[in-house]
Amino acid sequence: MLQTEIDPDIKQRVREFYDSIGWREIGEGVYQNARYEDLRPVVREYIHRCHVRVGRHLPSEGIYLLDGGSGPIQYPEYIEYSRGYRYRVCLDISKRALTEARTRIKGHGLFVVGDIAHLPFKDGTFQGVVSLHTVHHLPPQDHRAAFLEFNRVLQDGGRAVVVHSWKTHSPLRRLSDGPVEIAFKLIRLYRRLRGLEESPRNLPGTEESPETQALLSAPGSYTYSHGYRWMKENLKQLAGLDIRVWRSVSTNFMRAFVHRRFFGRMWLRMLYWLEERAPHFFGRFGQYPMILFEKHLERST
Ligand SMILES: C[S@@+](CC[C@H](N)C(=O)[O-])C[C@H]1O[C@@H](n2cnc3c(N)ncnc32)[C@H](O)[C@@H]1O
Repeated sequence: MLQTEIDPDIKQRVREFYDSIGWREIGEGVYQNARYEDLRPVVREYIHRCHVRVGRHLPSEGIYLLDGGSGPIQYPEYIEYSRGYRYRVCLDISKRALTEARTRIKGHGLFVVGDIAHLPFKDGTFQGVVSLHTVHHLPPQDHRAAFLEFNRVLQDGGRAVVVHSWKTHSPLRRLSDGPVEIAFKLIRLYRRLRGLEESPRNLPGTEESPETQALLSAPGSYTYSHGYRWMKENLKQLAGLDIRVWRSVSTNFMRAFVHRRFFGRMWLRMLYWLEERAPHFFGRFGQYPMILFEKHLERST
C-alpha cells in the first residue's frame, strides 16, 4: 500500500474507538472488546493454556516489563506476565484503557499514554516486552517501526513477545472460512427450528440491555496485518527471531465447531497437544502467531 493512500487520522480514530466503545464494560469485568473472544466454558481451558504460553517466553523477573497496547489488562492470565517484576509499564494510546488497567494492578503499574511506534523510553529500559493484539492497529508503514522500538527499549539479554494475527494470510483460516460460514448457517437454522434466540450468546456474564446490544454491534476499528513472509523479511535483523504458535484457530472457528455436546473440550486438548509438538508449523499456518525476539547488543542495529 502506498503511503499516500493511508489515512493520517488512523491512530486518532483507533484511540477514539477504544475510549468510547472498545473499553466500555458490558458486564462485570467484561469489555465490549471481548466480543472478539470466545468466553464459553467449553473453550476456557484451551484459551487459558494459550495465554500461559506467552509467559513462558518472557524473562520471569526484572524491574520493568513493558506492556505495549496494554488495554485494561482484561484477562486474569495477563497479570501473571509481570508477577516477577517490580513494575509493569502499561503504554496505550487510549486513556480509558489505562484508567481501567490502574484499577486492576494499582501500584504495580506505571501508566503512559503513547504510541508503540514511537516509544517515549530510553534505550535498554526493559527486561521484558509484551504486546498483544496491538501492532495490527497501526498503519502498515508503522509495523516495522513498532518492532524496532520494542527492540530498542529492551536491555541486553531482554526478550519480547508480540502476539499477532495473520488474519486472511493464514492458510488454515482461508481453508476453514467456507466451512465456518456453512456451520453458522446450520446453527442458525437449528436454533430457529428449536425456537431459540437466533444467535447464541457467546459472551456469558454480559447484560441484555439495548445499550449493550448497540455496543456489541458497533463497527470495529482499523486493523491491518502483514503476513509471514513480510515478517521474516522485514524483521530479520532482530536477534533470535522466532515465530511460534500462540493459538491456531480463530474465535469464529471455535464458535462454529467447538461445542460441549460434540466433545469440544477433547478436540481442543488434541489441538493443543499438536500445537505443542509443532509450534512453528501452527505459528506459520494457523491464525495467531507469537513473534519472539531477544536483545543482543553486538547483533542489533
Ligand atoms: C485489541 S486491544 C488489545 C489490548 C490488550 N493487549 C489485550 O490483549 O487485551 C488493542 C489495544 O492497543 C491500543 N493501541 C492501538 N494502537 C496503539 C498505538 N499506536 N500505540 C499504543 N497503543 C495502541 C488500543 O487502545 C487498545 O487498548
